[in-house]
Amino acid sequence: MQELHDAPLAPLTTFRLGGPADRLVTATSDDEVIAAVREADDSGTPLLLIGGGSNLVVGDKGFAGTALVVATRGFTLDGTLLELAAGEVWSDAVARTVEAGLAGVECLAGIPGSAGATPIQNVGAYGQEVSSTITEVVAYDRTTRERVTLTNEQCAFSYRHSRFKADPERYVVLRVRYRLEDAGGLSAPLKYAETARALGVEPGDRVPLDAARDTVLKLRAGKGMVLDPEDHDTWSAGSFFTNPILTDTAFAAFHARVRERLGDGVLPPAYPAGEGHTKTSAAWLIDKAGFAKGYGTGPARISTKHTLALTNRGAATTEDLLALAREVVAGVHEAFGVTLVNEPVTVGVSL
Ligand code: EPU
Repeated sequence: MQELHDAPLAPLTTFRLGGPADRLVTATSDDEVIAAVREADDSGTPLLLIGGGSNLVVGDKGFAGTALVVATRGFTLDGTLLELAAGEVWSDAVARTVEAGLAGVECLAGIPGSAGATPIQNVGAYGQEVSSTITEVVAYDRTTRERVTLTNEQCAFSYRHSRFKADPERYVVLRVRYRLEDAGGLSAPLKYAETARALGVEPGDRVPLDAARDTVLKLRAGKGMVLDPEDHDTWSAGSFFTNPILTDTAFAAFHARVRERLGDGVLPPAYPAGEGHTKTSAAWLIDKAGFAKGYGTGPARISTKHTLALTNRGAATTEDLLALAREVVAGVHEAFGVTLVNEPVTVGVSL
């Protein structure tokens, strides 16, 4: 197990932001992960788990405790069953499933971060969510101090949420198992209209797996959502806010605000989100509240390609980023009465 002291955390995050950790430990096996977690828990030391660092906002003061980098590796295919170690790079694993001719995660190509993070926020994009393919999650339970295997149902998945996110101090994900589909080299039926359109097919159609993956990668890149170390426009955590899910009553009030502000002809995006609920678009709200793509003059700005990605133009501090995020939340609230909630995890700071 590698151990460093007073180690900078910024290089471990896609934002490239945040101060140092008192102690930084890198674990390369499940047993090492468990040993490091137990040691921290036994001594009452705060613990910060780091995977790909793509959904993490670390405060400028850093982290007073042990930061544990989960760097385990393991990609095992048994028929259509895939098991990934938590530390596997997610987008590489997706590429390998496509190469193996298996469907189910091809639209999740290009998402930064590690496999172990996918169940935590039920990673989703372009019509696929890992909750549809995950069968089991093997985790270390810090309460019972045992290794546990949780079924899909026990993970309590919903939009960008799970049991792991609801109880963030309890589980450390070690392995994730997915059931893929052998559709003879074809993708799963395409659910996202934008993807189907880009491929010239109808939603519900299947296309060759690599065509699905390539199209998603192109769409993501067009929105600044594929990480490029050379391009500050991608130094982000992907979507900074989740898409708000409103009760039908709250949606009606929101729609009234939209009419008042933007005129009768403007319809806010609305997607069904379960009985009595409607999901709207955070990117749209931000745009219409007056924060256009590229908004900002400081070192933290809105991406020039998508209003939902806040970016570090290279010289930002976490406080710069948070000031921008707070400005956006306040502006959207004032314009439409809707409160945006951040998607990335914040460490030592809050919005
Ligand atoms: N829009 C704007 N301005 C923009 C961009 C988008 O007004 O600058 C509006 C448009 O009306 C557009 C709508 O927002 O139709 C939705 O945009 P998009 O299709 O890009 O999807 P999104 O809801 O903004 C979500 C996920 C992304 C995922 C895409 C594609 C969340 C929080 N975000 O974005 O996930 O890649 O759908 O499925 O659910 C992430 O979570 O980090 C992430 C990148």
